[in-house]
Amino acid sequence: MLPPKLHAFFCLCSCFALVHTFDWQDLNPVTHIKSSAWVSKIQALMAAALLSQTKIPRGSGLYSVGCTDLMFEYTNKSTFLRLYYPSQDDEYVETLLIPNEEYFFGLSKYLGIHWFMGKILNFLYGSLTTPANWNAHLKTGEKYPLIVFSHGLGAFRTIYSAIGIELASHGFIVAAVEHRDQSASATYYFNDQYAAETVNKSWLYFKTLKRREEEATLRNEQVQQRAKECSQALNYILCTDCEKPVKNVLDIEFDLKQLKDSIDRNKIAIIGHSFGGATSIQALHDDQRFRCGIALDAWMFPLHEEVLSHFSQPLFFINSELFQYPDNIIKMKKCYVPGKERKMITIKGAVHHNFVDFSLVTGKILGYILTLKGNIDSKVAIDLNNKASLAFLQKHLELQKGFDQWDYLVEGEDDNLIPGTNIDTTNQRVTLQNSTEIEKKNLD
Ligand SMILES: *[C@@H]1O[C@H](CO)[C@@H](O)[C@H](O)[C@H]1NC(C)=O
Ligand SMILES: *[C@@H]1O[C@H](CO)[C@@H](O)[C@H](O)[C@H]1NC(C)=O
Ligand SMILES: *[C@@H]1O[C@H](CO)[C@@H](O)[C@H](O)[C@H]1NC(C)=O
Repeated sequence: MLPPKLHAFFCLCSCFALVHTFDWQDLNPVTHIKSSAWVSKIQALMAAALLSQTKIPRGSGLYSVGCTDLMFEYTNKSTFLRLYYPSQDDEYVETLLIPNEEYFFGLSKYLGIHWFMGKILNFLYGSLTTPANWNAHLKTGEKYPLIVFSHGLGAFRTIYSAIGIELASHGFIVAAVEHRDQSASATYYFNDQYAAETVNKSWLYFKTLKRREEEATLRNEQVQQRAKECSQALNYILCTDCEKPVKNVLDIEFDLKQLKDSIDRNKIAIIGHSFGGATSIQALHDDQRFRCGIALDAWMFPLHEEVLSHFSQPLFFINSELFQYPDNIIKMKKCYVPGKERKMITIKGAVHHNFVDFSLVTGKILGYILTLKGNIDSKVAIDLNNKASLAFLQKHLELQKGFDQWDYLVEGEDDNLIPGTNIDTTNQRVTLQNSTEIEKKNLD
């Protein structure tokens, strides 16, 4: 939990950020801040805050977990992903959760707060780590099932580590892609080989909607691009149709050949949160290699109606009680077609952000203010999500593990779960969704 002083400071900064009228990145406060004396005091305060922060849990499975970043090819058409995998046991350093300051600037742009808040957030969370061994060696000698993970609106590849680490600790390889459709807070690519070699990053920030009527078209274009990016990530990882071996354009040594040899090519699934939940459904529709999907608090608005009933792979909806609303659930129910496996559970007292790492690393007060936390303990919520996911994956990827011990969670049989949904849709007309409020609720 954040100490009260720091909390007061944080609120003050928020006010400062909200009342000031200059535009985002209009003026660069960095030079200004660096010269002032109070910066070191703030940093000390922030460091204290970090020490007292709650941490992302280690994976509860049998495997140590490694983590690395992979980027294939150049330009905004390239593939970028963070990989979680079973690793060898040697000593490594923990992984930085948010590795570039630009992601905080992106977040502040996305949240509609002043750019300066990005600086504050960077002070607060910039040195936070997650318990995965950075660039550790892959544990070879086994073939692991593969999960492609798609992030939400305003999010990016790194902030679902609590899910990625837990799955990897149970013997999965998880590829968390970073989307280039301008739905991420921020992302970067290299224009060409020279740019990669000189580490000249091209940053691409969140696109703010200008006119509301464009939204349906934009979101549908984005969800289609996102699904393609998931398939493209799969192509690179499996090295399908590649004549020459693929190369990581980031300056990180990681044996891609071992990776390719360690994947069970018949056991591939897709998971996504919010916009990523919709992306998972689009990807199931577009790419038969995904054998099943899990949609975490899916935001259904981006999907065209005809997609909903036209995919045959099993799908599992894991919802939060406080985010869902009738139009969204009605669209989820359109995925229910006879003879196809569809499951839905709702986590009681959970908010939309219970699936994101921020829910675990922020203190109680800040967590509530920013609705990163619900009425349920964040660790309990993510644990239910992970165990139910593992049980569903074991069944539909035909794994020989012990995850069926949690089959009852897939049925919603737990004090903290609701089987199906808490939302009553019986008297709802299907209306055109007014997404102004959704957008606000849908922080990612
Ligand atoms: C990607 O790059 C192409 C070519 O430079 C450009 O036309 C397109 O708008 C870019 N897309 C995004 C999302 O920036
Ligand atoms: C970095 O790339 C941009 C184009 O994306 C170019 O304009 C700029 O000159 C490059 N900077 C360096 C230092 O090479
Ligand atoms: C959508 O909701 C917002 C906020 O409640 C409202 O201002 C706006 O008029 C609504 N738009 C439509 C098309 O109903």
